[in-house]
Amino acid sequence: MRLLISGGTLIADGATHPADILCENGSIAALTAHGTDHGPVDEVIDATGLLVFPGLIDPHVHSRDPGQTDKETFADSTRAAACSGITTMLEMPNALPPVTDSAVFAERAGQHAEVAACDFGLWALSLGGDNLEALPGLFAAGAVGVKIFWGYGLDRATKRLVYNTSDLPAEQVIPPPGITEVWEVLARAAAAGALVAAHCEDPGVLAYAGRHTAAVTTYQDLLDARPVEAESTAIAQAVEAARRIGGRFHVLHVATARGIELVRRARADGIPVTAETCPHYLFLTQDDAALHTGTKVYPPIRSRHDRDALWQALRDGTLTSLSSDHAPHAPADKQLPLATQPAGMHGVETLVPLMLDAMTRGHLTPQRLAHVLSTATAELYALPGKGRIRPGYDADFTLVDPEATFTIDQQRLHTRHPLSVFHGHRGRGVATASVLRGRQLMKDGELLPDAPRGTLVRSRPTAPAAVPASREHAGPVHPGDPVSEEARS
Ligand code: DOR
Ligand code: ZN
Repeated sequence: MRLLISGGTLIADGATHPADILCENGSIAALTAHGTDHGPVDEVIDATGLLVFPGLIDPHVHSRDPGQTDKETFADSTRAAACSGITTMLEMPNALPPVTDSAVFAERAGQHAEVAACDFGLWALSLGGDNLEALPGLFAAGAVGVKIFWGYGLDRATKRLVYNTSDLPAEQVIPPPGITEVWEVLARAAAAGALVAAHCEDPGVLAYAGRHTAAVTTYQDLLDARPVEAESTAIAQAVEAARRIGGRFHVLHVATARGIELVRRARADGIPVTAETCPHYLFLTQDDAALHTGTKVYPPIRSRHDRDALWQALRDGTLTSLSSDHAPHAPADKQLPLATQPAGMHGVETLVPLMLDAMTRGHLTPQRLAHVLSTATAELYALPGKGRIRPGYDADFTLVDPEATFTIDQQRLHTRHPLSVFHGHRGRGVATASVLRGRQLMKDGELLPDAPRGTLVRSRPTAPAAVPASREHAGPVHPGDPVSEEARS
């Protein structure tokens, strides 16, 4: 199967250049000058006037499948992702049962492969001290990282996240991991070169703040119950652990200026810490959040100052990845009062349009967008073949018309429940087509009838030669670490 993508402008390897792309059997075979004769091909995609990005990746999606398919399904979330221009999606492990050992990993991979509309990877879940021994098997199976819900308890019976202290009596809750367990998890991951990622809200700070907040009725109460220092305290501890152990620690959905400052300093010191943020923290402030019932999310959306710091971090390279943190609930759930409403919002289908709009408005360059939504994310999660437009890599592309305009209409979303706090957002810059392993996946926001099925992508990190026993002085990060990769590019 030979596919030619002709006439486009490639956004690749930090540069913008006109080129045709010849794809053979699912991989990139050659990049050539526009109009080069390649002999017979099976299909041509005319990309004249379009920007060609490496296939975009959403590394943080909770499809809740199996277990809570009343909220979302993997078929729907991958379809929604693919319709928006994403070609690879990494699935969070908190479905039921959660992915806590290699047997569940294998079972989940099989189930999802039956219905995946785009390529996908699977996260593993840390149960603190309870599944340390399972981690090497999960990494060997290709888990993209191990996730610590640092700030959440889990329902002892079902392993569901416990969103509010009022949801369950304390004895029915597995408490969030303590710092000793976080160090143990990081040490196991470091030995395999694997990534630890955490929801960073320190449980001790949350407990204190919860005790000193009367009742959560307004958005300000929610902010008081989950103060900025919950995030910065957790990140500070993570940095110290990564400094000593030398393992790669990724901070999920950073929401605060204080948090980002800690990440920036750690990276400057050569500590292998990376971070992502999400559109809701970039496009909304607590004032917007207070007006909309559906905006309860952990960590919460904060001030203009925090938002501006995140934009700055996205531009200066402190943030190396972006995700939707698609965490859907049924519409009725999101109508509940703040105190009992589950946290999380839809986002998998609005990540790409919002970020393309930001790009066309000049908030970040196309190269930066390609870096955080594809190249650096593929590198961070060690996804073989993904993230670059280079011969030998998978022929995954997202084609963007920078002049086309859009309006987010929640009725037209492809998720199980069509809901978006960005309903009505107007912007410019549309992913009009995508290609997955050399076959066209999406056109004009819909899957093609003969679109390829998504397959599992297994993470293959470079294991460090040796993990330093002691890091009295933070030395260089170990080989394959995205911090050093980025410094080189
Ligand atoms: O608000 C959230 N909801 N934050 C998370 O980190 C998890 C998520 C969920 O799974 O519902
Ligand atoms: Zn999440």
